[in-house]
Amino acid sequence: MKPEHTSPDAAIRKAADAAALATQGQPADARADAIEHAMAAALEKVPVKSTLYTSGDEDPTALKPRAYVPGKVLLMDEEPRLAPMPEKPTLADFFEKRFRPSKQHLLQSAALAMRSGLSEKIVLACLLHDIAVVGFIQADHGYWGAQLVEPYVDEEVAWAIRYHQALRFFPDPEVGYEYPELYVKYFGADYRPSELMRQDYERARKHKWYMSARQVTMNDLYAFDADTVIELEQFTDLLGRNFRQPKEGLGNDHSPSAHMWRTIIAPTRFL
Ligand SMILES: [Fe+2]
Ligand SMILES: [Fe+2]
Repeated sequence: MKPEHTSPDAAIRKAADAAALATQGQPADARADAIEHAMAAALEKVPVKSTLYTSGDEDPTALKPRAYVPGKVLLMDEEPRLAPMPEKPTLADFFEKRFRPSKQHLLQSAALAMRSGLSEKIVLACLLHDIAVVGFIQADHGYWGAQLVEPYVDEEVAWAIRYHQALRFFPDPEVGYEYPELYVKYFGADYRPSELMRQDYERARKHKWYMSARQVTMNDLYAFDADTVIELEQFTDLLGRNFRQPKEGLGNDHSPSAHMWRTIIAPTRFL
């Protein structure tokens, strides 16, 4: 039997079926929107998407219907369509219940660094380097990711995560790092990183921890193997030694990034 959280309750399913029926023959996008809207409306409490979640698909300055629906209350706690988090969430809980399947990229990258005999700091930086991509915000992911974990890891680990973002775009022939082929495919052959990225690259190049961030990019490149599954358990001891898990749980502590973890736990709260 599937866990309860993965199957919407009867009212939500009924609303989804009704919306699917009512929109038969319409374009797939419009149908998906209508179904999603109907499911959200069928929840007891109304979930709300932040501006950032929809900006681009929608013009954030355009007038939209108010989230408040008379007779209903706005969601101010966890999103019932997501897996419930324990009272004191650990990093492992976030990996299991909130991160995208592409977290495998993080695990493979860390496993590769470990096999190469790199230091625990570098393995940890690899394990967390794209944490923002898999669980938070993709644009500027190195900066967001570093900020998210900064209170809980060694300064050098956060630094390496922050600067891997810029370093990914700039080759270093001395250590055999080339501009990723994948980026040519993803961004086109004409793509050039912004001036800001170049400035951050220059800054990183002169820094004493340059090689730490460079190592992240070197273990990043080859870490996309669909046939390999690495479990987080492989890094339990390493995390125990190098990740300062707060005893109250991530998000319940008072660190400068606790609120970011709370937003990942409950991303559709009105406030
Ligand atoms: Fe990255
Ligand atoms: Fe990566």
